[in-house]
Amino acid sequence: MSDINAPSQKVFVLDFGAQYGQLIARRVRDLGVYSEIVPCDITADELKEKNPSAIILSGGPASVYAEGAPDIDPEILNLGVPVLGFCYGQQIMAKTLGGTVSHVDEGEYGRATLHRKGQSRILDGTPETQTVWMSHRDAVTEAPEGFTVTGSTDICPVASMEDASRNLYATQFHPEVHHTEYGETILRNFLFKISGLEANWSMEDFIDRTVEDIRKKVGNDRVILALSGGVDSSVVAALFSRAIGKQVTCVFVNHGLLRKNEPEEVEHVFTKVFDVDFVHVHAEQRYLDLLRGVTEPEKKRQLIGTEFWKVFFEEAQKLDGVKYLAQGTIYPDIIESGARKTGSKSSKIKSHHNLIPFPEGVHFDLIEPLDHLFKDEVRELGTKLGLPSNIVYRQPFPGPGLAIRIIGEVTADKLRMLRDADAIVREEIDAYNEKLYKETGVRDSEHSVWQYFAVLPSIRSVGVMGDERTYAHPIIVRAVESRDAMTADWAKLPYEVLSKISSRIVDEVPGVNRVAYDITSKPPATIEWE
Ligand code: XMP
Repeated sequence: MSDINAPSQKVFVLDFGAQYGQLIARRVRDLGVYSEIVPCDITADELKEKNPSAIILSGGPASVYAEGAPDIDPEILNLGVPVLGFCYGQQIMAKTLGGTVSHVDEGEYGRATLHRKGQSRILDGTPETQTVWMSHRDAVTEAPEGFTVTGSTDICPVASMEDASRNLYATQFHPEVHHTEYGETILRNFLFKISGLEANWSMEDFIDRTVEDIRKKVGNDRVILALSGGVDSSVVAALFSRAIGKQVTCVFVNHGLLRKNEPEEVEHVFTKVFDVDFVHVHAEQRYLDLLRGVTEPEKKRQLIGTEFWKVFFEEAQKLDGVKYLAQGTIYPDIIESGARKTGSKSSKIKSHHNLIPFPEGVHFDLIEPLDHLFKDEVRELGTKLGLPSNIVYRQPFPGPGLAIRIIGEVTADKLRMLRDADAIVREEIDAYNEKLYKETGVRDSEHSVWQYFAVLPSIRSVGVMGDERTYAHPIIVRAVESRDAMTADWAKLPYEVLSKISSRIVDEVPGVNRVAYDITSKPPATIEWE
């Protein structure tokens, strides 16, 4: 939806496979300038069409002379738009313009000391000697004609260079990482002093612009939205409520696999707080029938996903005059699915567009207003729109819900036990996280437990309660520390927190007589049990 959210200034980050690619775009946005990532094989003509205000060439793992190493359309450096290259970005600039890139004897990884030389527009306002963050093996050993070398380290002769007359700047080090002491000054110099941009990208502007664009695009038509109760779809619903009120129908498919009180909260928010046309589809029994006898995890996932769209489209077809389907696709989904907007050759994975299983003869045009926002920007947007914090800061929750936290067959009774036990786990660890927050003053993944929940395996064990022998289910508590779910470590919860969780679960949840704590990291385990 390129016609929604088109800010007046845009900085494009050409991605050469950087470890820090998303980080560069984030830093630029943090400084108040809108930024997007595009694949490095974009042509100068394609880029020109996007009307860039400034261009950043990211780092990358390759060696510029290696076979198949990513290259750049040389005309990009002649567009008359300021360009800043980092690491591989500096090397590709040097190679393209006739400088020399060599394999140096010693790689440089981590902290290094930069010694400035002479005047520099990009290093303006930074001291003669400063700490920078390096991560390279190759280096520019001779700057291209017209360039001045503005800094070096003991290992790297050209640690920064510039040709101010052509508005080309580059550093071997990474200004986007926090360890580079004056990284922010360097980025500010590039954006504001050199490129003449204004800091005008803010969530308030985003809301105003997006609301106006949605109104213009939708006119008098109707929009439908599948509301899952998750952060992204809830934020989209709040945004459409602001833009077109009851012209949007939010279909909430209640599959009965959400956590305790979640369906009630979703219904409350979208009937009492936001003005939308809200449809609560009670599909709980339908899902129980569907999942009867199913024990294989992937089969559960597939059945739940397919049924979701079936139920949704059954509702959608009951409504007249719906032209658009709104979706909460966010920027990392787009980046991970291969930059569909630039039509990059490297795009291998199908975009979200192709994943919606429209029934025969049914089609809606998609509107994806969050498709250029990072997750924390989506949360900020949700907060600004007035969504409650328990929705905006909801911990990650899998689409198939509690069904993949019941190991084996899903039944109504097991769902009841798991839901009640899970509510206790969350209450107690929420309280623990609050305590950590009070002690540290920081609320982030390093200072709080990241994801925590209960799991119910389909086994029973012997216990004793009062004078009676019991033969009942155990609950497994899973609580992990992580940044991005790719790797995770089990949370070292204090014994008193674990002890309280354990006694509350066996006291308060009939059918459970034992509690275990999962002390496995990922890898080798996964966060979920199925
Ligand atoms: P694993 O279990 O693979 O989980 O370590 C990593 C993260 O992904 C979430 N997860 C899912 N999310 N549909 C989702 O939307 C799924 O089928 C699914 N499986 C796992 C999990 O909660 C964790 O945050």
